[in-house]
Amino acid sequence: MKISVIGLGYLGATHAVAMAKLGHTVIGIEPVPAKIESLKSGHAGFFEPGLDEELAIQLASGRLTFQSSHDESSRDVQLHFICVGTPQLNGSLAADTSYLHSAIKDLAPYLAEDAVVAGKSTVPVGTAAVLSAELKTLTGHSTVNLVWNPEFLREGTALEDSLHPDRLVVGASNQHSQDVLREVYAPMIAEGIPFIVTDLATAELVKSAANAFLATKISFINAMAEIAEVSGADASALAHAIGYDERIGNKFLRNGVGFGGGCLPKDIRALMARAEELGVGQSVAYLKEIDKINIRRRDRVITLLSQELGSLSGKKVLVLGAAFKPDSDDVRDSPALEIAFLINAAGAEAIVHDPIALSGVNKKHPELTTETDLHKAFIGVDAVVLATEWTDYRNLDPATVSGVSNKLIIDGRNVLDVSRWQNAGFKVLALGKTITN
Ligand code: UGA
Repeated sequence: MKISVIGLGYLGATHAVAMAKLGHTVIGIEPVPAKIESLKSGHAGFFEPGLDEELAIQLASGRLTFQSSHDESSRDVQLHFICVGTPQLNGSLAADTSYLHSAIKDLAPYLAEDAVVAGKSTVPVGTAAVLSAELKTLTGHSTVNLVWNPEFLREGTALEDSLHPDRLVVGASNQHSQDVLREVYAPMIAEGIPFIVTDLATAELVKSAANAFLATKISFINAMAEIAEVSGADASALAHAIGYDERIGNKFLRNGVGFGGGCLPKDIRALMARAEELGVGQSVAYLKEIDKINIRRRDRVITLLSQELGSLSGKKVLVLGAAFKPDSDDVRDSPALEIAFLINAAGAEAIVHDPIALSGVNKKHPELTTETDLHKAFIGVDAVVLATEWTDYRNLDPATVSGVSNKLIIDGRNVLDVSRWQNAGFKVLALGKTITN
């Protein structure tokens, strides 16, 4: 099928590569010249395991091309995927949907009457209906085939998730649109991946609901961690035990410094804002608490540091990790960086290390001190905080660490081999439990 993918950030670049891999002819459209140049030269422009390799293969196949705007080649495209960002609006909890409106406006002059437009971005429920009406006005077509097809990929496993999702969800208002989506995803459907058809609003809400549920699970276990910390219990052991109940499940119950990234934090806020607009704010008012629990976990690290070091003024603290999760260079709403800011605000100096994400940190937050060499980063520090669970940190042999001023490490992700670090002379503290040396 000839398709276009509009917006080539995390979602769009991955989707474009995935669709080419399925055998479709894909035109990727992105107005930012640097992104286009990067993609054409085989670099997605962000770190995602396996993506650049697959991008190179698909570029070489000739099925995948990139351009900065629509042109005559868009006129016979059968399916346009819209993958633009919907970030949090400045000064509000709501999502900024302006990129979607621009994408629709740019597409309208080239849209064939029977072509299908599939929105993949995460949007406030009701957005698709507005976009559909806009498209009708702009094109003058009597019917427009707009569907909502939310994406559930996770950073770090984005390509694999795009090609083998748990389910495909398609909110469609007519049979033709549904058939086109079935056709584009035929290899996945043949693999047994469920294809769920809903109305537009349900499909939009499925995505917001899924992310709200995931955020709730994480904050639930972090709330239990708060209780564990003052009662002598261990939140990780608790999660392990309750997770055996299939109704609860053991995934997304890792307690620690909490969730970050470009999705969960902004999506729960956008859902609260949308519910408020719809007059049912009370329904998800509890998400305010989910957000607060999450933010409190970052404060907990500062409390532990102060308990151990007294005044933080003039102290040096190494923060291991800058990305919001391992296998990603994304530092949006990163718990690790938030902790670094809190350390600096308390009068200490945070030294930030990350195996991949430091160039982004230096660009966005030049005020932070960073160190690229892991062993050098330890020299002269009064404490270490593990904030992102990169394999490099899990595998680090503490016996090879030298030059620290004070052997204290706070495990913010509950991943360290505690006895190994203790044997190397470190005092180990962890979130959700109390470890006494
Ligand atoms: C999330 C969802 O998992 C995807 O399904 C969704 O498609 C995506 O948002 C999106 O809306 O685009 P992602 O943000 O890539 O994916 O990362 P997650 O794996 O969900 O992790 C989010 C945060 O939660 C990370 O900071 C991670 O460290 C934290 N987390 C995760 C925990 O603190 N505990 C856990 O048990 C799991």
